[in-house]
Amino acid sequence: MLPLRLRLLGLWNTFKPQSYRPVIPSQVDHEALVSDIADALWQAPKRIRSLWSAYQGLMARKDHVGKLGQIGTTSSEEAFVLHCLLDFARPANLIEIGTYHGGSTRRILDSIEELQLDTAVFTYDIEDMVRHFRPDEAELILRDVSGRVDEEIFDRYPPGIIYLDAHPWQLLQDVARAALKREDWILAIHDCSPILCNPRMTIPKDEPRLISARTGHWERHVLADIFGVEDPLDERLDKLETESHSLRIFGSQHGLALIMPKVLVRA
Ligand SMILES: C[S@@+](CC[C@H](N)C(=O)[O-])C[C@H]1O[C@@H](n2cnc3c(N)ncnc32)[C@H](O)[C@@H]1O
Repeated sequence: MLPLRLRLLGLWNTFKPQSYRPVIPSQVDHEALVSDIADALWQAPKRIRSLWSAYQGLMARKDHVGKLGQIGTTSSEEAFVLHCLLDFARPANLIEIGTYHGGSTRRILDSIEELQLDTAVFTYDIEDMVRHFRPDEAELILRDVSGRVDEEIFDRYPPGIIYLDAHPWQLLQDVARAALKREDWILAIHDCSPILCNPRMTIPKDEPRLISARTGHWERHVLADIFGVEDPLDERLDKLETESHSLRIFGSQHGLALIMPKVLVRA
């Protein structure tokens, strides 16, 4: 049970008048998405368009939307960005942080099968709530890697893709900063849309339990801090380059960010 102070803060965040109230869009501009993915991965738009049409067949066969949903989980469009990334990088492994019921893990596993890859999937959470995959398909690891991401992930697995879909401020900071120190890992982060960014967060950064769509998410705040952009709502954050990495935030329902080392994409 949360201490009284945090329970009161949670109630305040939920019910205060004119509280921050994000409305997640149900429609995505697919042409813009295709062209943004093509641009981020240095691929021809035609190739991404043809992947999208095959991907729609996969989603329909597996009933992804019906079984896994679209909002509050990795949507079809966000899963498609991960699908293109898997197709492009063909990694030895994919590390997910933030499993929940395993909806995103299911979509990732189905992409791996469809693309005939040999990618192993490890998925981290702090609680076992899995419904959508079997233990022989992906390994669930119950561990908080905050403060230990190098030992627990970057030095432990051969380079691959990390899909970060957990909201604690410290965890986001640690994973994004560690990824930017390397040029062999690709990092995707869920929930980076400006809609999910409350510029006036009212919860402490060290309190992971209260974070919800009602409070706003830390993702853009963390990225703004790391990439030296003052305002987390500044749209420069959606397409930004450093000497070694590129950051893209796709205009999907929840906003999916990709942090890619340039040497991997433009080799
Ligand atoms: C938004 S849900 C993940 C949703 C899932 N990826 C999907 O698309 O269906 C966030 C998950 O992060 C988990 N989480 C919270 N703190 C964590 C931490 N420090 N390490 C790993 N997982 C954490 C929560 O338990 C929750 O299951």
